[in-house]
Amino acid sequence: MAFPQTRMRRMRASASLRGLVRETALTADRLVLPMFVAEAGDAREPIATMPGVQRLSVAAAVQEAREAAALGVSAVMLFGVPAEKDEQGSGAWDEQGVVQLATAAIKQAQPDVLVITDVCLCEYTDHGHCGVLREDGAVDNDASVELLARTAVSQARAGADLVAPSDMMDGRVREIRCELDGEGFSDTPILAYSAKFASAFYGPFREAAGSTPSFGDRRGYQMDPANGEEAVREALLDVQEGADMVMVKPALAYGDVIASVKRETRLPVAAYNVSGEYAMVKAAAAAGYVDERTTVLEILTSLRRAGADTIVSYHAKDAARWLTQA
Ligand code: PBG
Repeated sequence: MAFPQTRMRRMRASASLRGLVRETALTADRLVLPMFVAEAGDAREPIATMPGVQRLSVAAAVQEAREAAALGVSAVMLFGVPAEKDEQGSGAWDEQGVVQLATAAIKQAQPDVLVITDVCLCEYTDHGHCGVLREDGAVDNDASVELLARTAVSQARAGADLVAPSDMMDGRVREIRCELDGEGFSDTPILAYSAKFASAFYGPFREAAGSTPSFGDRRGYQMDPANGEEAVREALLDVQEGADMVMVKPALAYGDVIASVKRETRLPVAAYNVSGEYAMVKAAAAAGYVDERTTVLEILTSLRRAGADTIVSYHAKDAARWLTQA
């Protein structure tokens, strides 16, 4: 018997038919808007390598969260840019630190907006590494973990809905969970940056946060971009330690990792569409090489298709606007 002739195009004939069978949906409620909150400087300071993104004062961050919520983006992720940095990164756990103040202000003005706080020391240390240093200049894992847990507790106390450790120290999820529970924050979930790669795509972020390491690089704690199996092991360890949600970062070149982390952990997975990925699209669109709107929506949809439940992206507000206009 002749095999029936397969015609794939029959199901692509109209917008309604395509809509009926579309496998993946991108919606604004899956997006998280990252924001840089600065302790000093003007209300809004442009970041040269990230057109359309600014360093914000606390008041401007509240405004930005309000605008995001109005567009249907009901989660923000906060990064602090302190006025002073020191060897330990003590601004990270300061009760009056810029992230703590911004968290409280956003929760007060917009209680329904989820505030996710980045837990790391690199924005606060004068050497720019994600933990404290030993005498020999290497990052001291266990001493750093203690300070990271202190940071997470101070953020929860300020009202953070989720805490997101991005430092890549071993054992930090367990320690953060213990300290949160001990301080009365057993209902605060941990979104662990489980598979965070030592990536060239973080360049613009480091300019924005002033967090470029003053010596060396982050390859001693962030992952080797060549390793996919190890990413799954990292994620499974974080699950054992008590992570409620895991993250893969960067996103665009790591679709395979998103898919395997989703398959192996069965937890909600976030993908971080990082600063360099944003900058590339903005630069290409500004040069007229690609169409910004369709490119961004294609990228974000592809991350959902790869297995991401949630996407952290500097395009979040634009994407939400385009989705409602579509
Ligand atoms: C801090 C941190 C970084 C990013 C998120 N958290 C920078 C880094 O590891 O150097 C990068 C985010 C981005 O590029 O958008 N540890």
